[in-house]
Amino acid sequence: MPADQSSSLSGHGQTVCVTGAGGFIASWIVKLLLERGYNVRGTLRNPDDPKNAHLRELEGATERLSLRKADLLDFESLKEAINGCDGVFHTASPVTDDPEQMVEPAVNGTKNVIVAASEAKVKRVVFTSSIGAVYMDPARGPDVVVDESCWSDLEFCKNTKNWYCYGKAVAEQAAWDEAKEKGVDLVVVNPVLVLGPLLQPTINASIVHILKYLTGSAKTYANSVQAYVHVKDVALAHILVYETPSASGRYLCAESVLHRGDVVEILAKFFPEYPIPTKLKDDGKPRAIPYKFSNQKLQDLGLEFTPVKQSLYDTVKSLQDKGHLKPPARQEEDSIKIQS
Ligand SMILES: NC(=O)c1ccc[n+]([C@@H]2O[C@H](COP(=O)([O-])OP(=O)(O)OC[C@H]3O[C@@H](n4cnc5c(N)ncnc54)[C@H](OP(=O)(O)O)[C@@H]3O)[C@@H](O)[C@H]2O)c1
Repeated sequence: MPADQSSSLSGHGQTVCVTGAGGFIASWIVKLLLERGYNVRGTLRNPDDPKNAHLRELEGATERLSLRKADLLDFESLKEAINGCDGVFHTASPVTDDPEQMVEPAVNGTKNVIVAASEAKVKRVVFTSSIGAVYMDPARGPDVVVDESCWSDLEFCKNTKNWYCYGKAVAEQAAWDEAKEKGVDLVVVNPVLVLGPLLQPTINASIVHILKYLTGSAKTYANSVQAYVHVKDVALAHILVYETPSASGRYLCAESVLHRGDVVEILAKFFPEYPIPTKLKDDGKPRAIPYKFSNQKLQDLGLEFTPVKQSLYDTVKSLQDKGHLKPPARQEEDSIKIQS
């Protein structure tokens, strides 16, 4: 039976904490939780920063959203935010390939959240991990189906300086270890690259992957593949695994895997007015082939994934609506002014 993908009051009377509430994915989790009747405590490093103001505009926020100041490396601040909650959605994490900024907050921050959740005796913690903790494995054959049983090879991540994937993999492992030791009920969502409408006023890293194809800054597209999923589906996946008592383990959250050539082709069909690259960057290798994957576990919980074409369309529309992407006529006008 399909899950109730619309809002229902399943959260009535429950209080849950969402870490890093102002982020791209977390804002959507907060929105859906409020729509379902939950009382939500959102943690932010700076609740007064205008980049977090959108949270107060969400439906139900005035009555049921409280924003708390907390940093992942400040245990007491997390403890205060989580104490008294029924559940925790741990989404906050640096998103960077800088090892100094990435690894410690991701790993120790996650341990702090699990310990605080254990002390508060919450019913369940949902942790936002990543495909980065799943698929970075050079030994995997082309016919292997990427699913929840796969783990990234830490040595390979280190050697290729992929510190984001390294940090997320070590953080997820730390979450499992800490949860086991403390007897915390942990469920993990592993999203692939997330697209779709932004609720926050700023541009996050996964949206830049698409924005660069529309502004003229990318002259070519890479010979590589990428998996995609819609942000609303990612948020709903978090809530489904929280609300389903039998949910356990990891949940790969992916809709499709495309070659970059397919991405630019879809974008060019929807938005021919932008300078979308048409040339493949020649790396001397044969065309990369999309890997196989399974999202069956989330489908079994009733999640109906949004097609990637819709995700790409919604992303661009949202960038236009928020003023991050000028209408093409304005871009042309500006370039004429610059030239003259
Ligand atoms: N977007 C994707 O494609 C994708 C895919 C797979 C997994 N994920 C995971 O999903 C989660 C959210 O990512 P996102 O795309 O929504 O990114 P985002 O918009 O950059 O959000 C990240 C959030 O983490 C917070 N944060 C970073 N360091 C922190 C610290 N030391 N203490 C407290 N908060 C901290 C940030 O707060 P500030 O605003 O204060 O910096 C921000 O709210 C991350 O765990 C990421 O690894 C994302």
